[in-house]
Amino acid sequence: KVLSGKDIPSLVKYMKSKDCKNVFLMLGAGVSTSAGIPDFRSPETGLYSNLARLNLPHPEAVFEINFFRRNPVPFYTLAHELYPGKFRPTITHSFIRLLSEKSLLHTCFTQNIDTLERRAGVPDDKIIEAHGSFATQRCVDCGEPYDDEKMKEHILEKKIAKCPECGGYVKPDIVFFGEGLPPQFIQSLPNLRKADLLIVMGTSLTVQPFASLAGMVDTTCPRVLINLDRVGDFGSRSDDVVLLGKCDDIVRDLCKELGWEEELNELWET
Ligand code: OAD
Repeated sequence: KVLSGKDIPSLVKYMKSKDCKNVFLMLGAGVSTSAGIPDFRSPETGLYSNLARLNLPHPEAVFEINFFRRNPVPFYTLAHELYPGKFRPTITHSFIRLLSEKSLLHTCFTQNIDTLERRAGVPDDKIIEAHGSFATQRCVDCGEPYDDEKMKEHILEKKIAKCPECGGYVKPDIVFFGEGLPPQFIQSLPNLRKADLLIVMGTSLTVQPFASLAGMVDTTCPRVLINLDRVGDFGSRSDDVVLLGKCDDIVRDLCKELGWEEELNELWET
């Protein structure tokens, strides 16, 4: 057993020790809900329970590649609402930046496509956007990349972008159901063996292969879950710490105990 207990003080004691050098993070939509971006599966507020207006056969269809090829309208409608630029990083995103500034952050694996990690100032080389992002886009038929500015215009004006080469629909490089994950994701998986601490925040851990990362760290590596509800197999290992609640609140408590409260607020306010 590495931790002396299953609470914040025991975790902080470990984080301040020389044994904790490589912190890995796994993030999901719950870290961005306080920025005003809905998550997917929360019962009342999640995207999937609010998609009836888009006339989908089932909610996940909006992110299915075969459905998109037939009808890109629901995705473009959603993209218009979720388009990055409208939203500000949360306290939790500032905490991630702080971990990086303290030279503790090894890799931040995120399922989110909102790019709020980068916007909070987390260095690009520490972020793995496992489900891609809105940063680039291409034609779903011929694969030809499409211009960034033109894409932005189309999404903001709720128009569907078509490939100038072949007329196929253009899709941001977000990983849809039925598509493979980016090569950077696959390449960085072996690093998980170096983890001294894994913190999982704001995810239901329901989507594979991302969810399986939580099982890839060494059995001696403490794992922390910060989430509204208990997910995955958290609690099954002796050094699992489960902190239930809103991630911004828990992150504040954690930073208070770490003595990082002022720095956290400064980062968030600037
Ligand atoms: P989900 O909506 O499945 O899960 C969000 C989790 O965060 C839930 O367990 C919530 O209880 C929790 N949560 C919400 N707000 C929170 C808060 N303020 N503090 C702490 N916890 C909070 O979202 P993901 O796990 O990210 O994939 O979903 C995974 C993937 O499914 C997404 O990347 C997306 C989706 O289909 C693709 O689009 C390919």
